[in-house]
Amino acid sequence: MSNIYLVGFMGTGKTSVGRELARRTKNKFIDLDDLIESREKRSIPDIFAKDGEPHFRKLEKETLLEVSKDKGLIVACGGGIVLDRQNIETMKKTGKVICLSASAQVILERTSRSTHRPLLNVASPKEKIETLLKARASCYALADETIDTSGFSVKQVADSIIKILPD
Ligand code: S3P
Repeated sequence: MSNIYLVGFMGTGKTSVGRELARRTKNKFIDLDDLIESREKRSIPDIFAKDGEPHFRKLEKETLLEVSKDKGLIVACGGGIVLDRQNIETMKKTGKVICLSASAQVILERTSRSTHRPLLNVASPKEKIETLLKARASCYALADETIDTSGFSVKQVADSIIKILPD
């Protein structure tokens, strides 16, 4: 099986859905952000704070390229992976790109409990979410499929993905 890449905005459930999908399809799960953190031995907020977003994007691109050499993986990607067209090409060449979506309100609710997302650690996260969603819409639209997760459980979203996977 080629890889399955889960993309989509922060808080759309890529990691939880990816784990569930991997469990049900008996494939290996990789969370790209976790892999970057374990290799760098520091957190993503730390990478953003000390070296800036461009450096994080470089690490993200390198890690994706490496992971894409393997097969049969379910890969949960960071929300900004689609900003780089070469990343999209890498994913499309080596698998299927599935975008998870959710409304700004749902994203706000799901992300407000955590502080590990540097881009949302701002005075007005709701505005930031709306601005980033607009700016990124054309990038997320390049995915092979989009699945709305608002109001659905992790299991329900995994069910919808399994239905559209090639046999
Ligand atoms: C980012 C999303 C984060 C992480 C980093 C940047 C983004 O991943 O990669 O904070 O630009 O949307 P999640 O989507 O898993 O939160």
